[in-house]
Amino acid sequence: MKTLVVGGAGYIGSVVTRLLLDQGNEVVVLDNCSTGHADSVPEGAQLIQRDITESDGVLAGAGFDAVLHFAARSLVGESVEHPSKYWHTNVIGTRALLDAITEHQVPKLVFSSTAAVYGEPDVMPITEETPARPTNTYGATKLAVDMMITGECVATPLAAVSLRYFNVAGAALGAGERHTVETHLIPIALDAVIGRRDKLTIYGDDWPTPDGTPIRDYVHVLDLARAHVLAIEAAQPGEHLICNLGNGDGYSVRDVIAAIEQVTELPLPVTVGPRRAGDPRSLVASADRARDRLGWRPEFDLQTMVRDAWDFRRTTATGPAAAE
Ligand code: UFG
Repeated sequence: MKTLVVGGAGYIGSVVTRLLLDQGNEVVVLDNCSTGHADSVPEGAQLIQRDITESDGVLAGAGFDAVLHFAARSLVGESVEHPSKYWHTNVIGTRALLDAITEHQVPKLVFSSTAAVYGEPDVMPITEETPARPTNTYGATKLAVDMMITGECVATPLAAVSLRYFNVAGAALGAGERHTVETHLIPIALDAVIGRRDKLTIYGDDWPTPDGTPIRDYVHVLDLARAHVLAIEAAQPGEHLICNLGNGDGYSVRDVIAAIEQVTELPLPVTVGPRRAGDPRSLVASADRARDRLGWRPEFDLQTMVRDAWDFRRTTATGPAAAE
């Protein structure tokens, strides 16, 4: 199979690229490397360092069987401060890609959507039927793209799957998280263990949860990558399938801290700060549809995610730790 991985120099895209290559597929990566890293693209994949808005020239006459689309701005806080950047990159950029996909009749598309489309629902677990009411621009742009894809699948034979990721963690196949500006809990906490940061700040311990810290559903990046391969296989012409990807287990920030101290056997210095604007109290997935339609079963638990992230971060990840 010949695949185009848009955003294949980023964290999740680079793991999926490696998995596709391992399974004998031909992979071309399109990435402008604005947040991704050229050296995250493995040997064996061709890197075309161009913007998503130039995807027409990449798809023309190339005979791709599928496009996997990871390229996006994905920082919630930044999306609230600079919404225009998010509408341009995530929506207008994807519009150009969709037009090229239609024009050159690529039969299949797998899109990286997000739990952020749901906003702050009261009822857990979150299913795909839970009303999508994003509370920030990042989630709104991803929902807009989901809606654009639905329209494309009505109007054309495109076979598309949107995968709504919950909290992705871990490392696999030699790739892991290398964000220049890091905002995610596990890499920040591991940096505090290593001493690249002074401490981890817990964003509030007065939430209405059992230990006062917010609850999330963590999913291993390799489980996530496997779902993409299954999604390509399951995609049906003229259908837009939307699936949540999570383990279905909720862990609080304090649960994650305990797992990190257990795996690393080192103390994690923490302090409690104010709540972060826009953080929901609890996000836990129902991934029943991914199980039924894709045949997806997540295999890895939180301990494994932390262990794999730890092995990657202390041996591989370099560069400056983001400011607190
Ligand atoms: N947290 C801290 N301190 C930190 C970083 C995070 O206490 O330094 C807490 C957050 O408050 C949250 C939890 O750890 O309760 C997880 O935070 P992350 O930043 O790791 O992840 P988010 O849940 O904020 O974000 C994830 C995805 C986003 C998606 C969002 C949906 O990474 O892409 O879920 O709400 F938009």
